[in-house]
Amino acid sequence: MADICLEARDLCKTYIVEGYSNNVLQNINLKIEEGEFVSIMGPSGSGKSTLLYTISGMDDMTAGKVIFDGDDISEMNDKQLTKLRLIKMGFIFQQMYMMKKLCIMDNIVLPGYQAALMSREEVNKKAEDLMRRLGIIETADREITEVSGGQLQRACLARALINSPKVLFADEPTGALNSKASMEVLGEMVKANEAGTTVLMVTHSEKVAASSDRIIYLMDGDIQGELVLGKINTSDGMSSAEKLSLRERKLRKWLEEMGW
Ligand SMILES: Nc1ncnc2c1ncn2[C@@H]1O[C@H](COP(=O)(O)OP(=O)(O)OP(=O)(O)O)[C@@H](O)[C@H]1O
Ligand SMILES: [Mg+2]
Repeated sequence: MADICLEARDLCKTYIVEGYSNNVLQNINLKIEEGEFVSIMGPSGSGKSTLLYTISGMDDMTAGKVIFDGDDISEMNDKQLTKLRLIKMGFIFQQMYMMKKLCIMDNIVLPGYQAALMSREEVNKKAEDLMRRLGIIETADREITEVSGGQLQRACLARALINSPKVLFADEPTGALNSKASMEVLGEMVKANEAGTTVLMVTHSEKVAASSDRIIYLMDGDIQGELVLGKINTSDGMSSAEKLSLRERKLRKWLEEMGW
């Protein structure tokens, strides 16, 4: 069995709104292996984004523990968490935290400069390479208000991958994209995963989730079940389109059983 790189133990999150408490996550226990590509699915309001925010340390948990790469993040102070996020985590979230005063290119390279794991020239080259592969190279000098939602989402992916993170957290990374652009973004995430980045992604799309190794179904803040599809086997002679449609059918059937 591979090493566990991310683990939630009895993770709980309660929001208190106008005196009423809403137990959004209830004793979540989840282990993610190094190199896994895991999707979280479930109805709107089931707590998927909340799970991603708390398990990544972006938001406080109410109770429980999260172990990231051997360290208990619930015990870390803000400075330690900030460093961990910069160097070992990549994020694509629904609310995109792009700097309004910086152009697309500068937004992408910024975490690379801050982490200083590579020289600035190497960061620039990597950013250009990512933008080219994601089809947004022509937006490099534009303000973030001068690009489409889909282009911005792809820029977020480029930024999230600039430091080759250990874990990529993505909340509906293809939500604003048409099906062609969705597949391009997904393709880049699969490539990052093949290169060693563990991926934890929330998605509503069966087509997108069908590329992941495992799908977790969340309902009312509780894990209701999981489907293991495994890595896509490339040595059995079947075309990848055939394989994906087979996986998608399997997933759809399982989701129906889950009450999707
Ligand atoms: N900051 C907040 N304050 C109070 N309640 C919140 C907050 N964020 C989320 N919630 C509540 O927590 C519950 C889960 O929300 P969450 O955003 O995690 O759902 P989701 O599964 O990601 O839904 P969607 O598919 O629509 O994105 C909802 O009832 C929501 O209203
Ligand atoms: Mg959400």
